[in-house]
Amino acid sequence: MAELTATPEAVAPGGSAAAPAILAFEGVVAGYGGGDILHGVSFEVPEHGLTCVVGPNGAGKSTLLATVSGLVRPRLGDVIFRGERLRGCTPRERLERGIVQVPQNHSLFREMTVRENVEMGAFLVRDRALVRRRLEQVVERFPVVAERLGAKAGSLSGGQQRLVEFARCLMLDPALVVLDEPSMGLDPRTLRLVFDTVRAMHADGRTVLLVEQNARAGLKLATHGVVLENGRVRFSGTGREVLDNPEIGALFLGGAARGG
Ligand SMILES: Nc1ncnc2c1ncn2[C@@H]1O[C@H](COP(=O)(O)OP(=O)(O)O)[C@@H](O)[C@H]1O
Ligand SMILES: [Mg+2]
Repeated sequence: MAELTATPEAVAPGGSAAAPAILAFEGVVAGYGGGDILHGVSFEVPEHGLTCVVGPNGAGKSTLLATVSGLVRPRLGDVIFRGERLRGCTPRERLERGIVQVPQNHSLFREMTVRENVEMGAFLVRDRALVRRRLEQVVERFPVVAERLGAKAGSLSGGQQRLVEFARCLMLDPALVVLDEPSMGLDPRTLRLVFDTVRAMHADGRTVLLVEQNARAGLKLATHGVVLENGRVRFSGTGREVLDNPEIGALFLGGAARGG
């Protein structure tokens, strides 16, 4: 279980619009030296919500997430976590504060076992007994991890590797889980399993910031949705509002919503 650190009256389990922000982007301008990719991005990620960012390839979604993990530093603006500016905070300090990211590309050590990979997620935890306890909890939650603990990570399918990456990220008991296109390249059955797992992490009380190419499926899970286009927020609202917006549907979701 995640440790819920918000004050009781502030907790909105469904992540209502009134929920306080655990994370906020404030006028973030960022890029890679060759020029800006993000041109002043501002929105809030409500605590205990599931916020899904969608938008075309190249819109800057992964770059945005990199400003959260600390791999990309905003040229202007800042990312605020629990009311504190993250400018100047190293990637490691962000992990220590409870911000954990699963990157878009597979990130397991293929020649190491599933168990070693998952345990590595707890590298900041000194207390070995706590690591053992967390491993037990994670194994319980992810049957595939339990079954393949001794297998080399590289021998697993893409979907199984994704679940191991989820398991690894939970070893730090994060408050904010950041996921970059977790469903990429998965067959429909595995994709459902991955989405169910995202839903379960959210139901455990964790705040989830999800980027999804599979926009409709991601937004259906989400309490909040953000449409990013050319490094700018084009639209934001509840997941439902984004899904139901006819213009957004036509432009970004492969046609208008057809119910469901
Ligand atoms: N490491 C990098 N160095 C230079 N340019 C990059 C780098 N990563 C991404 N870009 C460029 O930034 C833009 C946005 O990329 P990205 O944030 O990955 O978009 P998305 O995740 O929405 O597909 C693209 O034009 C991409 O080519
Ligand atoms: Mg990306």
